[in-house]
Amino acid sequence: MNPLLFPLDSATSLTKNFLEKTQYEEGKMVIHTFPDDETSIRIDSDVKDRVVILLATLDRPNDKIIPLYFAAETARALGAAEVGLVAPYLAYMRQDTQFHPGEGVSAKYFAGFLSQYFDWLITIDPHLHRFHSLSDIYTISTTVLHAVGPIADWIAQQVDKPLIIGPDEESEQWVANIAQKINAPYITLKKTRNGDRSIMVMLPSLERYKNYTPVLVDDIIASGNTMIEPLKQLKLADTKSPICIGVHAVFAGSAYEDLLKAGATKVVTCNTIQHVSNGIDVSSVIAQALDKW
Ligand code: R5P
Repeated sequence: MNPLLFPLDSATSLTKNFLEKTQYEEGKMVIHTFPDDETSIRIDSDVKDRVVILLATLDRPNDKIIPLYFAAETARALGAAEVGLVAPYLAYMRQDTQFHPGEGVSAKYFAGFLSQYFDWLITIDPHLHRFHSLSDIYTISTTVLHAVGPIADWIAQQVDKPLIIGPDEESEQWVANIAQKINAPYITLKKTRNGDRSIMVMLPSLERYKNYTPVLVDDIIASGNTMIEPLKQLKLADTKSPICIGVHAVFAGSAYEDLLKAGATKVVTCNTIQHVSNGIDVSSVIAQALDKW
């Protein structure tokens, strides 16, 4: 029998597009919040002996964790054959080491938590930096999908003579791949992070790319500073108006508006997190990965 899909948020473009593209049956689940802010889950679909897939993107994770955990446990208590998690954005991946004495490594603890309640996990471009694979910290089966295909398609269709720019060395993995797919040049910058919101980057001479449109590409846009610093320098270098692309539209506070103010003509993201900047649909990437059913 086909799996049952339970989106924690049915209203997102990712969920709608995914359900349109596939034969998935949407399960019926009610998440109720009591006056004291406690949560109860009721699953109205028959999940006995079926594969249950919870679809939940995990930005701003803390409020989502209890409903997710209760939903997984409720499905299991009602006899689900297996419970998997599709998390288009996977939280807590950036806290991947002890940065200061006394701190814990949240990425490991979060991985331990999810590994306890799910049989498998599928996600898109998790922030793998000090950990090279999710299996370094997750004990369940994990699948990592990539948004480079849809991003490359978007750039090829929308941007004339793009110069792909990775704002830091870690971004090389995406920008090199995208540049290769669309046969465009790319560079990566050197970033030094001095704090949550304090960043320095070095922009090389772009003289030979005068006729190109700079396209900054990164996995996560959070405070926006990783892109704001290069934007300021691109302005000084008098390049064509730059475009910013992020896989995950985390956008803390006024980050989106700040990027536009700093000189981005356009800020475009994938719909792994619902946001006004979503212009690149990645539902087919997930649909392909779940094709085995
Ligand atoms: C970290 O290295 C990531 O790849 C991103 O560059 C980072 O998460 C962006 O964060 P922010 O927008 O706060 O500079």
